[in-house]
Amino acid sequence: MSGSLPGVIVDDPHWWRQAVVYQVYPRSFSDSDGDGLGDVQGIISRIPYLRELGVDAVWLCPFYPSALADGGYDVDDYRNVDPRLGSLDDFDEMVGALHEAGLKIFVDLVPNHSSDRHEWFRAALAADPGSSERDRYIFRDGLGDSGELPPNDWPSHFAPSAWTRTTKADGSPGQWYLHLFAPEQPDFNWDNDEVNNDFLFTLRFWSDRGVDGFRVDVAHGLKKDLSEPYKPVPSIGVMEDLPTDGSHPLFDRDEVHEVYRAWRSVFNEYSPPRVAVAEAGVLAERRAQYATADELGQAFNFDLLQTRWDAQAFRETITRCLDVAEGSSSSSTWTLSNHDVVRHASRYGLPDGTDLEAWLLSGGTHPAVDIEQGARRARAAAMLLLALPGSVYLYQGEELGLLEVADLPAEALQDPIWLRDNGARKGRDGCRIPLPWNSELPSLGFTIGTPHLPIPAWFSNYAVDAQDGVEGSTLELYRAALRTRRQLQSTETLTWHEHPDDVVWFSRDNGWNSFTNFGTEPVVRPAGAELLCSVPLHTGDVPGESTVWFRG
Ligand code: NOJ
Repeated sequence: MSGSLPGVIVDDPHWWRQAVVYQVYPRSFSDSDGDGLGDVQGIISRIPYLRELGVDAVWLCPFYPSALADGGYDVDDYRNVDPRLGSLDDFDEMVGALHEAGLKIFVDLVPNHSSDRHEWFRAALAADPGSSERDRYIFRDGLGDSGELPPNDWPSHFAPSAWTRTTKADGSPGQWYLHLFAPEQPDFNWDNDEVNNDFLFTLRFWSDRGVDGFRVDVAHGLKKDLSEPYKPVPSIGVMEDLPTDGSHPLFDRDEVHEVYRAWRSVFNEYSPPRVAVAEAGVLAERRAQYATADELGQAFNFDLLQTRWDAQAFRETITRCLDVAEGSSSSSTWTLSNHDVVRHASRYGLPDGTDLEAWLLSGGTHPAVDIEQGARRARAAAMLLLALPGSVYLYQGEELGLLEVADLPAEALQDPIWLRDNGARKGRDGCRIPLPWNSELPSLGFTIGTPHLPIPAWFSNYAVDAQDGVEGSTLELYRAALRTRRQLQSTETLTWHEHPDDVVWFSRDNGWNSFTNFGTEPVVRPAGAELLCSVPLHTGDVPGESTVWFRG
């Protein structure tokens, strides 16, 4: 218990149910050695910042050795640290320091695919068709007279085809392998026992090092139906196109749950049990299964992130998410941003229905972002989320009010979405720009070298030092909201209150009320002592596009 923050009971097996988890994208968080890439020692140096912010846990995006074909989601070695980011000793030091500060840690696990530099994939390429080495991945002969056509027409997320042909040692073309993402990310064969056992080993490896939880990448992938004739896959990544009966050949198959039941027995070997959160791009009715107590325990939902700025829409989404979570006896997750989407302070400043891909391709100029409106709505939405029962996942930099960097020059872009799609989509680099720590320092204090993605000069207005202690800053709002939430946290229930205006108003069972005015005109606030408002210096009415917490 020593070193823990009030409110976090270290051995409580349910600590995660209402935790605030801060997502660190390590290569863009803080660089300690000047190579331009954030690293583990950089994270350690910022633990006081995280503690002062008041979060309960950190989720660390992939930090493993990787060629960075997909921002680290192409893992070379699941049980090591990218030497550019540090060593296993650094990792252990970080876990110890986080725990000492009362913070838990989730690591990102990427089980659907490895990188093409993983020792197993290299061995598979060197081995013959039909070998046990190839059976850990998904290799097939091609069609056509000499196998020159892919086995089928399945699409991939980052390339036109989900199949890439191999080249034999003598230079002649060989079999094809499956990759639902970039060609550098070959999919594992989860019907292979060695794959299953190796991941159980990896779960124990990190759990033994003190990791508290796992974020499971593409949790709805893994199990595939490769029986012939192959089933059609007309689209990829479109959640609404997924059937709800588990019949899709690539995603959300019922068999995937066997994998997570085996993982659960590993989690339960530890005290408190290790926890996990599924990144499962499935419809709400299928999400609950991933989050049951005998599987991963919790599942992300991106529903609020995709909900337009509208009181009714927010109410409906929240109600649905709470129902789904209840259906699995889990708690709901809430999030507005992550490393895969346009930052919400920009999204909320764009007209409803803006095509974000087209907006990014325009360099963020068409349409123009209403920066003030975006900031107002972002602050209001953050407070709304933080008052909901369940856990909140914050994305690094949102506490500074950071905007998307939409005008990155083509030569700076790293995302396979841009590189593989021939510039048809700009990708996710604009939300992955390194954090601005100090407005006075070169590279705004992120690095003493050259940052791996360029940091725009205007980021200095959002730097930590420019907001620290400044009344009304977004950073101080987050700190106050997290402090207040910690003091007021209550049972996982919510009561809705009717309001004639464009308002979302609910309370928790201890009288903690959250009242969000989605309209632009002020509305009269119900009686009660004000605790916090997303807009500083107001008159007592609830200003447009703001949230007020009060005790009623
Ligand atoms: C989801 C991750 O969030 C994303 O960044 C990554 O590209 C894909 N999974 C593939 O691993």
